[in-house]
Amino acid sequence: MSFDLVFFGGTGDLTWRKLMPALFQAFRHGKLPEGGRILAVARDDQTDERYREWLKERFREVDGAKRPTDEEFEQFAALIHYRRMDLAQADHYQGLKDWLDARNADTVVLYLATSPYLFTGICQQLGAVGLNHDKVRVVLEKPLGHDLASAQEINRAVRCVFAESQAFRIDHYLGKPSVQNLMALRFGNALFEPLWRRESIANIQITLAERLGVGTRGAFYDGTGALRDMIQNHALQLLTMIAMEPPSSNDADAIRDEKLKVLRSLKPFTAESVARDVVRGQYRAGSIEGASVPGYLDEVKVPADSTCETFVALRTEVNNWRWAGVPFYLRTGKRLAERDAQIVVNFRPVPHKIFPGASQPNRLVIKLQPEDGLELQLLAQKGTGHGEQLTPVSLDLDFDKAFATQRVGAYERLLLDAIAGRLNLFVRSDEQEQAWRWVEPILDAWAADTSGPRPYAAGSWGPAAASALVARDGFSWAEEQ
Ligand code: BG6
Repeated sequence: MSFDLVFFGGTGDLTWRKLMPALFQAFRHGKLPEGGRILAVARDDQTDERYREWLKERFREVDGAKRPTDEEFEQFAALIHYRRMDLAQADHYQGLKDWLDARNADTVVLYLATSPYLFTGICQQLGAVGLNHDKVRVVLEKPLGHDLASAQEINRAVRCVFAESQAFRIDHYLGKPSVQNLMALRFGNALFEPLWRRESIANIQITLAERLGVGTRGAFYDGTGALRDMIQNHALQLLTMIAMEPPSSNDADAIRDEKLKVLRSLKPFTAESVARDVVRGQYRAGSIEGASVPGYLDEVKVPADSTCETFVALRTEVNNWRWAGVPFYLRTGKRLAERDAQIVVNFRPVPHKIFPGASQPNRLVIKLQPEDGLELQLLAQKGTGHGEQLTPVSLDLDFDKAFATQRVGAYERLLLDAIAGRLNLFVRSDEQEQAWRWVEPILDAWAADTSGPRPYAAGSWGPAAASALVARDGFSWAEEQ
């Protein structure tokens, strides 16, 4: 199957940091279909050769294991082309179309790795020159809008030109192997599903913690914040995968229908519940792995009086028969104590104790990163004699070790899926809009609340109020137990 993959924003950070390395991995693993061409388009006037040299340099900044040798790069680079395009110029789109038509590949994937402000204009221009025919797919990179209205505007523009089945909205968390394993865990095994409900589960915690600060992205980040950057998309997508009903099949729409139902069942926020159930924070100077790091307000291109949140913790519920009353805690932040993405399912305690000592409820930890695995915490007897207290023990499954050779990175997986036309791991417009609808009252309440985010020291787990949020229900975050 021949394909042409076009990156709009071909010299941008996303392209060289994530997309090209992911494609190279697919190439190295022999997974990239034969007969592919990769076309980077951007404003600069340069040749294929110069672009390839530039990319080769950029690859030196990529994680060692993912860096090509010179020989590998030569082979990979043979697939790569460059084309100068001014995205505001209609005739440049015609030029692109002519270039693509000259080969007439089986599939054309147009990846918009540009600022989302350009999406509407690009889609209109693509439509105007007929680059929306059946063989074309468009991939849209987040952030998809800034709020519900802007997301709807982008979706309208996309819909005017492309069918929903041609639109691939990326949430790279859905490409992480551990997230796909969540589907396998729940719907490929009979073990957990009977317990996956309010009768057995006390609470669920989703943590997406980063050690990194905003780095050089201060200007972008300050207009975005943690709620838009991580909760509206990644954290909510994980929540839908955890809470959804079993889909009738493994088809994209069967899955996305169920995820949408979860988003629609989320308890809506009001100004009062935002004040009670949502904590926003902003990091101050502190220390990460023994090194001093500056506070958010001292980061490059961040206004000194910024009230942008770099941390969010919130409590919500899924209002349906399966989950009524079960708290779902979501938490994300920059400059936290660990780089740790995980979902913790805390089961209810045993109904009647017959063993001495404190008993700790069972817990399933779904680890997304840095490790990729599952840990089931149980209680057992060591066998040292009568009257012994139970001891916590873990069943630990490390997918990285178990499947070392077959693991495929998130962007690699998603790019290959986009080329193959598999929509399962992409977000449908109604899901995305519903997620914005749910998040908006929080944004509104914050806009009206002048108290701003709570400070927390870099290297901590965020403001103390985040612990209090969970403690109010009689629970605690996983690292506090
Ligand atoms: C991106 C956010 O979507 O996800 C970044 O814009 C964040 O701010 C990143 O750092 C985290 O992704 P990962 O895969 O490193 O956890």
